[in-house]
Amino acid sequence: MPGRPLPRGGPRRQAGNHQPLRARWRAYADPRSADGKDWYGTWAQFRKDVAGGPFKASDRFLVVGCGSSSVPADLVADGFVDVTGMDYSEKAIALQKRRFPGINWVRADARSMPEFANSSFDVLIEKALMDGEGAWKQWPQMLSEYSRVLRYGGRFISISLGQPDELDSEAFFANDTYGWDVRHALSYDDYYVYTMTKRRKLGRRLRRRRRPAGSPEL
Ligand SMILES: C[S@@+](CC[C@H](N)C(=O)[O-])C[C@H]1O[C@@H](n2cnc3c(N)ncnc32)[C@H](O)[C@@H]1O
Repeated sequence: MPGRPLPRGGPRRQAGNHQPLRARWRAYADPRSADGKDWYGTWAQFRKDVAGGPFKASDRFLVVGCGSSSVPADLVADGFVDVTGMDYSEKAIALQKRRFPGINWVRADARSMPEFANSSFDVLIEKALMDGEGAWKQWPQMLSEYSRVLRYGGRFISISLGQPDELDSEAFFANDTYGWDVRHALSYDDYYVYTMTKRRKLGRRLRRRRRPAGSPEL
């Protein structure tokens, strides 16, 4: 099902949760992540909120910061054959290799991924990686790398506690450097599903046309 844009500041904001994302992350105890289960939710729970229509069976998926998540295995169970799970934790990758030996597991750092060529994936999924403490200051490096390894027209899906007015901004996903069209949906629970589709870099004329009145040229 195609994702749908929601009004800025979704239900959680209206419910009075005005803490900044970092504070919310620190206070967050995810009961679902106990015993090596998925953080926030499973592929079956969030896939309906991904924008841009169905995926192709031939799509190449990269799940960054997969930890012990079942998302890579669930994708394979859904019929996708080209799935790579990556994490910089040796322990997590060793565990995944033992649990699901048929999947391609790579130990790599999302801030710099020379292991993967430019435009080598159709879909990139990150869940609870960029919200995490360790990754906090490395967002720009990660976002540039995600954009680099995705093909044009490919989708970057981010599952986050971050609310649209925090993340759907020029300073973050919507930054023109990455060339993404951003859509988001509130999931069944308390996290957001962001879909960024990589478009070609805007031409100078289009950039000027899109620029809000009075704002400097990009
Ligand atoms: C909160 S866990 C989420 C795990 C999984 N994505 C899930 O949804 O259950 C964050 C994961 O991101 C990984 N991680 C953090 N920074 C990373 C980086 N720079 N490169 C690769 N993995 C990273 C951690 O090792 C950890 O497994």
